[in-house]
Formats: sequence, structure tokens, C-alpha cells
Amino acid sequence: MNPPRTYGDYLALDEILGAQRPASGKGDWQTASHDELLFIVVHQAYELWFKAMIFEIDDVLKILSHGTVAEAQVALVVHRFKRVNEILKLILEQIRVLETMSPLDFLEFRSQLGGYSGFQSYQFRLLEAKLGLRRKDRLTYGDRQYYCDLDEAHQRQLREAESQLNLFDALDAWLSRTPFLEMKGFRFLDAYKEAADKIAAAERAAVDREKGLSEQERQRRLARVAGNAQVFASVTDTKQHEEYRTAGQRRLSYRGMLGALFINLYRDEPILHLPYQLLVGVTEVDENLTLWRYRHAQMVHRMLGRKIGTGGSPGYDYLKETVERHKIFQDFFDLSTLLLPRSELPPLPENFKQSLGFSFDVNDKVTSS
Ligand code: HEM
Repeated sequence: MNPPRTYGDYLALDEILGAQRPASGKGDWQTASHDELLFIVVHQAYELWFKAMIFEIDDVLKILSHGTVAEAQVALVVHRFKRVNEILKLILEQIRVLETMSPLDFLEFRSQLGGYSGFQSYQFRLLEAKLGLRRKDRLTYGDRQYYCDLDEAHQRQLREAESQLNLFDALDAWLSRTPFLEMKGFRFLDAYKEAADKIAAAERAAVDREKGLSEQERQRRLARVAGNAQVFASVTDTKQHEEYRTAGQRRLSYRGMLGALFINLYRDEPILHLPYQLLVGVTEVDENLTLWRYRHAQMVHRMLGRKIGTGGSPGYDYLKETVERHKIFQDFFDLSTLLLPRSELPPLPENFKQSLGFSFDVNDKVTSS
């Protein structure tokens, strides 16, 4: 193939700029509804950004699929997430451009869209699947499956993505390999349990000390303290953790949860800075995607009120529910429940701290001990 000769050739601009075909009017831009061009361009821009994000996530999956992940590679993953997050912020803002179209302007050509809907965006489904949204966790309406309107080739691609390693599972495996949980003179679980018991005892004592509480109120507060203590106990009690998993309240494996907790608690240690940034990055990806879902649902409410969608869903009511339901990295948010205040954090033994960081040898050369 000859190298492209011009800017336009390189970017295939003739193809891209010739790819806006109106459904309204007589099929040309002289007779089409004015706002339909914006509607198409915004959707196309989204699809390009979906492509770019999938490309970044695929690379992260490749990196994480290796048994061990070197520090430089962790830095690369952090960088990839940063890019995905910037894209997500950008496409969130893009909704404002589309909202310059009024509901009445939209109605001018909406009926021409037939059954077309973002619901059929296979790239969006791919992105969700690669991040780790599982079929069984998806919200469905009626007996319509989220892939039913995709053509066979795209359905196959989606099934393939769903059968391969996704980001959630890849991170779970990576976290499960977190070293340091047990070292000479320090057992993370024992230290954590001791601190958590101390916190629970202090909370119980605070309820006991409080004057003027009715017996009923006292019991209610004590039950809440006991509930908190049970959640803390799940850190040291595998069985309890598994019960949460069976009930669908947790998804991370026990070791994965411990790894994530350790990284969060001891993130001030230099060696844990990057792993911590990685966890922040992926949590932000989920948060930004959730914000997009919410923002899109609000726009749909504004444009359509309570009308059903062109994809046949209940529209706003369906989209609103996906906001929470389709959050993928819930565990990473819930983890904050298990955090201990810095003042209660079991100190790491000195030799352990040294082995986590960098130290200078007698010749003043930097060495990682
Ligand atoms: C006037 C603007 C828009 C309206 C009225 C609208 C309406 C809807 C509705 C009603 C649904 C629910 C499925 C259905 O029954 O059709 C939906 C889903 C969806 N839309 Fe939009 N949409 C708009 C703009 C966009 C844009 C710009 C995108 C970007 C690609 C987009 C992407 C999606 C996606 C990915 C879904 C599936 C969401 C899910 O199932 O979780 N929409 N849209």
C-alpha cells in the first residue's frame, strides 16, 4: 500500500466527512432536520472515543495478564487509566453540546430513527464487558437481552470478550499476589484484628457513656456498632467474606480484598505509591462511567420525558437504574468501610519499612533493599 500523501488521506477524511447520512427529509442535508447533523456527529465522536478507550483497556489487560507485573508496567497501567479518565471526562462534557438541541427540535426527526438506539452500540457493550460487567449482573427489561439487536459478528465479538480475562478479574488476580501481608515479626491480619477490636470496643463504650438515651435507642446503636464490627471481622474471617460474596455483596476474592486493603492502608509507603495510584485510577474510571450514565439518563429524561426509548426500553427509568446497578468496581468503593484511621493503623516493623522503601548504602549509592 502506498503511504498516504496528504493530511486528508492520512485521516481518511473523505470517508469520515462523508459518513453523516440523515434519516430525515429526503436523505440529504438540504431537506433534513437541522439538528440531525449535530445528533449524528456527537454519536460518531462518541464511537471514536469508545474505540480509543477500548484500545487502552486492551493494552492494560495485556500487561496484567502476565504472571508478574514489573513496577514500570504498573506505572504504564496508571498512565493508561489516566488517559481513559480524561476521555471519559471529555465525553461527559459532550452531552452539553447535544443539549443545545431542544426536545422539540429532537422530535422533528426522532420518528425517522426507527429502532436505532445507543442501546445497540456494540463498542459500548465491549467496553463494559472488558471492564468486567458480567451478563448476570446486567439489568434487563422484559425478556430483551442487551445483545439482541446486534448483528451476529458483533455478538460473537462480545461473547469472545466476555469469555476472556476482564479488568476486574485481572486486578483481582494482581491484588491477590500482593506480597508483604505476612513478614517476619508482622502479621497483617493479627495487627488489623487488634486495631478493629479496639475501635469496636471504643464505639461500644461511647454508646454506654452517652446519657439520656432510651433503652431502645441504646440497643439500636449497639446493634449498629455490632454490624460495623461484623464487617471489620470479614477481613480476618474468610467464611464471612465468602458469605458476602455468595450474597452478591462482594466480588473480590479474599486475597484480592486483603491486597487492596493493605495497599490503601499503607499507601504512604513509597513502594505502595504506584499500586495505590492504580487503584485510584480504576476507581475513577468506574466513577466517571457512572457519572456518564447518570448524565445521559438526565439528558434522556429532559429530551423524552417518560416516553419509551427507540430501542424499546422504558427509557429514563431503565437508564436511571443502570447507574448504580452497572457499577463494576463496587468493591473498590466499599473498601473505605474497612479502612482504619491513621492513628489506629498498626505500625509496620522498622525492618519491614526499610524493605519497602529505598535506602542509602555506606557509599551513598541508592539501593533498593
Ligand atoms: C437526544 C439524545 C439521546 C437520547 C434521547 C437517547 C436515548 C436513549 C434511550 C431511551 C436509551 C435506552 C435504550 C432505548 O430504549 O433506546 C439509550 C441508551 C443508550 N444510549 Fe442514548 N440517547 C441519546 C444520546 C446518546 C449519545 C450521544 C450516546 C453516545 C454514544 C448514547 C449512547 C447510549 C448507550 C451506550 C445506551 C445504552 C445504555 C445502557 O444500556 O446501559 N446516547 N439512549
